[in-house]
Amino acid sequence: MVALAGPRHTAAMLLPLPNLAATEALAARVAALARAGDAILLSGPLGAGKSAFARAFLRAASGDPALEVPSPSYTLVQSYDTARFRAHHFDLWRLDGPGALVELGWDDSRADVVLVEWPDRLGELRPDDALSIAFAHGAGDARIATVAGWPDRIGALA
Ligand SMILES: Nc1ncnc2c1ncn2[C@@H]1O[C@H](COP(=O)(O)OP(=O)(O)OP(=O)(O)O)[C@@H](O)[C@H]1O
Ligand SMILES: [Mg+2]
Repeated sequence: MVALAGPRHTAAMLLPLPNLAATEALAARVAALARAGDAILLSGPLGAGKSAFARAFLRAASGDPALEVPSPSYTLVQSYDTARFRAHHFDLWRLDGPGALVELGWDDSRADVVLVEWPDRLGELRPDDALSIAFAHGAGDARIATVAGWPDRIGALA
């Protein structure tokens, strides 16, 4: 783990994710800490592991390792009931402006847990209390996650 000084004195962490299992383990740790009202923003290029993280998060939160987690690329959002919270998995790659996000039920979704791929599309609707995870490609299956936010909880993610 490498601690970085970030804006507003919030720390960011670099977490090496050498393989898919490491990404899934991080997702399970985040799921264990998540609660209603949380926003989890997943950024990074195509194939970086945003959907893999979301799938593992939703499987861990639901306690069902076989839970079907279809890509929301076309529907833009898929919703799930878990024991502790309702969660909404957004993929905003094809979002047609912030107005379209409101039509998808964004405001009501914020009472639950939101997982957002392509969070840059949120514009001014981007929650400032979110957990942000930026995935970057390493060699082969390796990924590097830059994790920021959740100042009271981020320490449990190292
Ligand atoms: N360390 C790793 N973490 C996450 N995914 C990994 C890792 N190693 C290999 N993979 C593989 O990389 C792919 C990541 O695809 P995924 O759909 O999660 O990316 P994405 O960031 O959601 O891309 P898109 O922008 O197209 O939605 C999957 O096939 C996954 O199995
Ligand atoms: Mg994806």
